[in-house]
Amino acid sequence: YSMEAAQKVLDGKSYKWFMHKELHEVPRKIKEQIMMPQEDLDSFVKTILEAERIFITAAGTAFYAALAGKFLISNFGGPYVEAILCSEFIDTLPNMPENSVVIAVSQSGETADTIEAIRYAREKHGAKICSIVNVVGSSLTRYSDEVIITTAGLEIAVASQKAYCTQVSALTLIALRIAELKETYSVEEIKKFRDALLKTVDIAENILIEEGKIREIGEKISNETNIYFLARGISTSAALEGALKLKEIAYIHTEAYAAGESKHGPIALIEEGFPCIFIAPPDATYSRLIGNIMEMKSRGAKIISVVADFDENVTEISDYTIRIPIENNKYAIATSIVPFVLTLQLMAYFVSDFKGLDPDKPKNLAKSVTVK
Ligand code: G6P
Repeated sequence: YSMEAAQKVLDGKSYKWFMHKELHEVPRKIKEQIMMPQEDLDSFVKTILEAERIFITAAGTAFYAALAGKFLISNFGGPYVEAILCSEFIDTLPNMPENSVVIAVSQSGETADTIEAIRYAREKHGAKICSIVNVVGSSLTRYSDEVIITTAGLEIAVASQKAYCTQVSALTLIALRIAELKETYSVEEIKKFRDALLKTVDIAENILIEEGKIREIGEKISNETNIYFLARGISTSAALEGALKLKEIAYIHTEAYAAGESKHGPIALIEEGFPCIFIAPPDATYSRLIGNIMEMKSRGAKIISVVADFDENVTEISDYTIRIPIENNKYAIATSIVPFVLTLQLMAYFVSDFKGLDPDKPKNLAKSVTVK
């Protein structure tokens, strides 16, 4: 019984891979995040609201959490947030505006590009840095004015997953706190959104209990060589993360883009059986997304969709669906990004396992990229 095998045990169950075990830790980790002390959130949000311009930056999976955060903040009535990859930050903003705040998202707090971006913003342009970091005492925490520590704990699998889920839970709390301060919703409504956010813990749990269904879809796509991941609005960030995860750990060429762009190029590759995975929650994008699904389907694409439990319309036009057990109300729908992404991360894990690969240590990748 090796040390490593011991580390792969959770609730008395041994997992073959850290990635799988860590995905099973998501419910408890996001619960801890959602229940974080209000005071820790308050000064962070206050700093954001005092700024004239708000940027959010990160790399890799953390960038897709950042993109989700950008949408969450504006969907809940907060200010416009510009998301910029940290490796593009300096070149995008050679003249950074005064009185800016940069929200930086990172698991390790050591990604060289992230550190370079925030040091540039802080030292050259006097920006305030608010960071969401998993590692206490990391470089990023030391260069920040405000820090929210994520509750993921040690993440061993190279490709981030539970850290992503806690980052997005934290960003949802930030968005809700902004909504509360700006009074974009009534006190009762804010409470309903908060309750719905807390329910994502049970939803994540149910997804994991029923993971066999996701495994079945994973098996069906495991021989594919090219897959599109498509969505609109906040779900585009989920599509990007789903595509990245499958590329990273299952070595399938994937591409994710906002579904409205199909006609401007990507549709040229569609032929009989080309797999397209649509992330289709029943939010404001739903009916327009159906149009995007139809344009692919009518050219022979195989439609795999990730939908709400109660979905009918997208289900009807899909070859396969994965159903997310969310309730049918606006509060549940607005807070469902983590359940949707957890499902895509689990699917990538199963595909990797089917292919006999090592999901924990994908080739050519590092857990923390400390070179520019
Ligand atoms: C590497 C990891 C990714 C991670 C990214 C950003 O590429 O393999 O899983 O998302 O770095 O890392 P960070 O520690 O800044 O979140």
